[in-house]
Amino acid sequence: RAAPLSGLCWVCLLLKSKCCCVLCGLGDLGVRSYGQLESKDIFIAVKTTRKYHKSRLELLIQTWVSQAKQQTYIFTDGEDKELQLSAGVNLINTNCSAAHTRQALCCKMSVEYDKFIESQKKWFCHVDDDNYVILPSLLKLLSSYHHSQDVYLGRPSLDHPIEAAERVKSDGSVSVRFWFATGGAGFCISRGLALKMSPWASLGNFISTAEKIRLPDDCTIGYIIEALLEVTLTHTHLFHSHLENLQKLPTDTVLDQVTLSYGGFENTRNVVGLVGGFSLTEDPTRFKTVHCLLYPDTYWCPKLKGGHRH
Ligand SMILES: *[C@@H]1O[C@H](CO)[C@@H](O)[C@H](O)[C@H]1NC(C)=O
Repeated sequence: RAAPLSGLCWVCLLLKSKCCCVLCGLGDLGVRSYGQLESKDIFIAVKTTRKYHKSRLELLIQTWVSQAKQQTYIFTDGEDKELQLSAGVNLINTNCSAAHTRQALCCKMSVEYDKFIESQKKWFCHVDDDNYVILPSLLKLLSSYHHSQDVYLGRPSLDHPIEAAERVKSDGSVSVRFWFATGGAGFCISRGLALKMSPWASLGNFISTAEKIRLPDDCTIGYIIEALLEVTLTHTHLFHSHLENLQKLPTDTVLDQVTLSYGGFENTRNVVGLVGGFSLTEDPTRFKTVHCLLYPDTYWCPKLKGGHRH
């Protein structure tokens, strides 16, 4: 969903003036493109917890995070000097509780928001510690929007808007309906929109906003954007969480997705159906296999004999 063209842009198109079109954000052929977006313009927040540093985070650091160290910020709840030193990543101890409660999750989201605003980057993207981010796809997706527009991109977790009881006074509540992007699949917010969220999201306000509707962090983001700011979620199916059937994703489209996930302990078979590279035993999540298709020159990727690659 691109913003309507300005009057000037229409004039440019009518005049078929290439220079003029480029100036108003249109390509030579009038195709809207914000080609200058670079991966350093994106702030990628990864939410994790101390007990998953070894089992989940190491895999991410070995794979996609290694390609985006400068713009990836890992939000956790415990010190890990070893990880920080060895991997050279931005590890942020939120000092939030390690409990998997609404309050603890909202506490982390609140720190993520504040760090993003501080970073001056153009896009805020949030993912979980079981997501693989396909950076070229993310860059391509965000390049079709402008960071000063109001953009909220993600996968709705339900096929209908959620209905929440918004606490208005200590004794009353009203019903509100809004869409939200499921946090487990990841979502992105433009800087322009993030700045407008400030009264309800910055400096701990996020936690009191979440208390008003008593819903988790990702729902609270949707509540602020859709219900309070009246900006609609742009639904995209390029983001994936472990709650979906990942095997259903056609294998020839896997690399076009923006995020991937895997089933974890409860459902170890729920992974994308990519074969080759590594066996299921060597790479149960398929993240290494995906990574080697994207970055075949990585030193630990299998090489075919004779110098040929897959
Ligand atoms: C967490 O606590 C440490 C030690 O008090 C402090 O240095 C750090 O800035 C705190 N983190 C955040 C995100 O506030």
